[in-house]
Amino acid sequence: MTTVDTHAGQSPTASLPVAFPTTSDASGRTFGAEELAAVTRVLESGRLCRTVGAEASALEREFADYLGVAEAVASTSGTAALHLAVAAVNPEPGDEIVVPPITDYGTVAGVLAQCAVPVFADVDPLTGCMTPESFLAVVTPRTRAVIVVHLFGGPARIDEIVALAHERGIVVIEDCAQAYLARPDAVGGPAGTRGDIGCFSLQQSKHISAGDGGLTVTNDPASARRMRLFADKGWPRDTGERTHLFPGLNYRMTELQAAVTRAQLPKLAGVIDARRRTAGSAIRALTGLPGLHLPQHPDRHSFWMLPLVLDRQQIHLDCREFAAVLIEHGVPAAGGYLTTPLNQTPAITGRQVFGTSHFPFTVADDWPTRYQAGECPVADSLVADSLVVIAWNENYREEHVDRVVNAVIDAHRRATS
Ligand SMILES: Cc1ncc(COP(=O)(O)O)c(C=O)c1O
Repeated sequence: MTTVDTHAGQSPTASLPVAFPTTSDASGRTFGAEELAAVTRVLESGRLCRTVGAEASALEREFADYLGVAEAVASTSGTAALHLAVAAVNPEPGDEIVVPPITDYGTVAGVLAQCAVPVFADVDPLTGCMTPESFLAVVTPRTRAVIVVHLFGGPARIDEIVALAHERGIVVIEDCAQAYLARPDAVGGPAGTRGDIGCFSLQQSKHISAGDGGLTVTNDPASARRMRLFADKGWPRDTGERTHLFPGLNYRMTELQAAVTRAQLPKLAGVIDARRRTAGSAIRALTGLPGLHLPQHPDRHSFWMLPLVLDRQQIHLDCREFAAVLIEHGVPAAGGYLTTPLNQTPAITGRQVFGTSHFPFTVADDWPTRYQAGECPVADSLVADSLVVIAWNENYREEHVDRVVNAVIDAHRRATS
């Protein structure tokens, strides 16, 4: 049985004889004796909440050191990690936060919850990531922050976006839920350390996992403090007072999640290396097929998925038809990734965050022109027509790579003959 686990989008399932390792069960996960020992340690201690234990604090220190940043804040999910980042920005109602349209809803959940307005910037036709140009095109005097998603593990042009944003006093949040250890260039630090705040997910399908969980990193101690308080009801436990400094939520990571993540962290580099090695050999084998665009720098990609972009002038199958051929071959693939780009999903187009009030969209005067087809034409065309994603995994072996390569060659042959 092969299952496509896109998590954020469609999940076609096909009964097939070929077993591809999947993140949906142990076949494609790295859970072992270390995680078992971690869980046992926490259970035996009787300390499952971070307010009485030491695992979450230790994880925060270890993750910050791992990435080479000053602070990390643990939370309950990638969505929570992003919400903490927006809460640290502390937008005024109606302030705008720029986001891309090809991503998980978790990218925008915190924007809406903090009464800010998501403004969608179109994406690069080959990577699906927001570009410096598309970001600049939607900046207004109300723009407070931008959330850049490193889609499928492929790094966005983050340094250029950071430079443009900082010139304008705009905070840069990196959504690295799919992009652990992605490298925007050959020399600098990994994705998540280039902007002001970096956000990571530990959900089941991610490179490392505790089932669910999130981590937010920053070099700014004031932001980190605000995030810690927001994740714990605004409660300044470090001062010994039982008071609440501003409205927050309970986004505390449990000690069990933290202990499992601490066991996962030393495995992360190996997970990324393995994915780069196998995806790199698939890409080498497929390079040169006319009309098929593949990631340009496999050594910098972290391959949460392997994206293919079809040049529809040359490929006469759309992305869903192309993916159907891959699925026939037993390859865990999907066309389009999302049903629609996020700017056209009902949770956005309905504009109903707080009852039927349309707040915070009512704060700005140009909102009626947003959230429809044509707003981000490149994203529309990728999702409707040309983007194919293949689930990737650290446990793929040569036979899986061969099967992917043969399937893509067959789909390409059928699409061009
Ligand atoms: C790009 C992106 N952002 C945010 C999220 C949200 O993470 P979580 O599912 O852990 O809340 C995800 C997870 O699918 C994601 O892929």
